[in-house]
Parts: sequence; structure tokens; C-alpha cells
Amino acid sequence: MKHRLADKVALITGGASGLGRVGAERFAAEGARVIIADIGDASDALDAISKAGGAAAAVRCDVSDDASVRDSIEFAITTFGDLHVLYNNAGVMLSADDDPTNTPDDVIQTTLDINVKGVLLACRHAIPHMIESARRCGEASSIVNVASFVAHLGAATPQIAYTASKGAVLAMTREMAAIYARRGVRVNALCPGPVMTPLLAKFLSDDAKRQRRLVHIPMGRFGEAHEIVNGALFLASNESSWMTGQSLVIDGGITSAYVTPEGPSWP
Ligand SMILES: NC(=O)c1ccc[n+]([C@@H]2O[C@H](COP(=O)([O-])OP(=O)(O)OC[C@H]3O[C@@H](n4cnc5c(N)ncnc54)[C@H](O)[C@@H]3O)[C@@H](O)[C@H]2O)c1
Repeated sequence: MKHRLADKVALITGGASGLGRVGAERFAAEGARVIIADIGDASDALDAISKAGGAAAAVRCDVSDDASVRDSIEFAITTFGDLHVLYNNAGVMLSADDDPTNTPDDVIQTTLDINVKGVLLACRHAIPHMIESARRCGEASSIVNVASFVAHLGAATPQIAYTASKGAVLAMTREMAAIYARRGVRVNALCPGPVMTPLLAKFLSDDAKRQRRLVHIPMGRFGEAHEIVNGALFLASNESSWMTGQSLVIDGGITSAYVTPEGPSWP
């Protein structure tokens, strides 16, 4: 059977850890040549991909910095010659992010710079190449923007800057989908529910906090990274060829429920 990303080049921001790393490994296993663009060290992820027989390279990138993003996209083109998939996964949720009366300016600014401007800058530099790559291969290129379930419902956690940033990702997704629908680039958003990556683990450090969150998840458990990446793979691949401007929510039922059931979790 043909691999689902055979012959494709995919750039994943924030692919050195958490959901992005699982995505980088899975995309490579599905035949993509992967570029990991991360502010941190991606050598562990590269080793894992190469041990599994995949093709990948890494570039240091700060998604909030225009020159850094431009250089990373150029690196992808010089390394693998094409760019079919842009997986805008890098994101932060800062500890001092709180309600509107208590969130400091620098927290708002940094969150918006990375989570919103970062997506915009990557699209700015990638899209011209993605239009050309789509022409060459005859299938639309695909942008997958990682938002969150909090873009769809309010949470009293609270993290107002993060929530604002993820709402903006959905709005940008729809706008870019409309702009590029006839130019060979599809743009969709992925909205994960809570998964125990380093990003979330620091907020849910003790069992009592974790149990309080689980009450709001109808399926009664946190998600697994591979369950989110399954959605990313669908959106990145040509399996979603007639889909653009949409938001794929993978959240164990959170955004569908008002009252959650009691009893043991599933599965
Ligand atoms: N984990 C969850 O529960 C959850 C839920 C919903 C949405 N998300 C979203 O999923 C995405 C991945 O989150 P995660 O949980 O894997 O987080 P994570 O903290 O585990 O990983 C984030 C990665 O992004 C990188 N990064 C941070 N700032 C960067 C920058 N300026 N430039 C380039 N890379 C940068 C980090 O080095 C890291 O490798 C984020 O956009 C996050 O908002 C996560």
C-alpha cells in the first residue's frame, strides 16, 4: 500500500517535542521527508526518525521572527526541493496567563507573537513555494494550523491570551482557505483537547488538578498524542482533498457536552 505522504515534503514547527515530535515521526513513517523547525534541540526526534528509516532534517527556528522563519522555509527548499505540507504546530501557554484583569502585557505579547504571528509568518514564506509544489505534483498543498478546543468554547481555567491566540488561528485558517482555494493550497485547523505533553503537564502537576479536568471530558481520559496526529495526518494528506477552511476537533467529546457521564473512562 502506498504511504499516505509518499513523495511529500512536510515542515513541522515545534516538532522537537510533544505533539509535534509525534507528528514528525508519524509523517516520516508515512513517507514524508520532514523538516523540523523548532526553537529547541531536535536531535532526539531526528535520531528516532532516522532509526526508523525515515528522512528528516532540522533547523533552528523562532516562529515569531520573520528572518528566522524565512531562512527555515529556504532550508526546507534547498534540503528537499519542494514543500507540500506546512504543519503549524509550535505554540506556547505561559504560566502567568490568567483572566483579563491579571494577565501581564508581556504574556499577552509573547503568546500572540508565537501562536498567531508565528502561523502567519510561516504561511507568508511557505505559501509561494507550496503553490509551485502543488503545480508540480498535481495535488493541492496542505496547511494544518494547530488551534485548540478552547477556540470553540469558554473555559474558566483561565488562560485568556492563549484562548485569544487560538481563536485567531481559526479565523486565519478560514481567511487563508478562501484566499488560496483556487491556487492549490488547502488550509485547515486542528483543535486538540488536553493531551499530557510538556505544555500541559506543568499546569496539571498534581493528581487533584488532573481529576478536576477529567470531570469535563466525556470519555473520561486525556487524549494520546497519536490520536491528535491521526487528525493531522488526515488533513495533511490528500485524503482530505475536498476539505478546506475547516476545524477538526479531537477532544474526547469536551466541546459537545454540557453534562458529562459518570462511571469508568473509555477505553
Ligand atoms: N497538549 C495539549 O493539551 C494541547 C491542546 C490543544 C492544543 N495544543 C497545541 O498543540 C501545539 C503543540 O503543543 P504541545 O502540547 O506539543 O507543546 P510542547 O510544549 O510539548 O511543544 C511545543 C514545541 O514548540 C516549540 N516552540 C515553542 N516556542 C517556539 C518558537 N517561538 N519557535 C519555534 N518553536 C517553538 C517548543 O520548543 C516545543 O518543541 C501547540 O500549538 C499547542 O497550543 C496542545
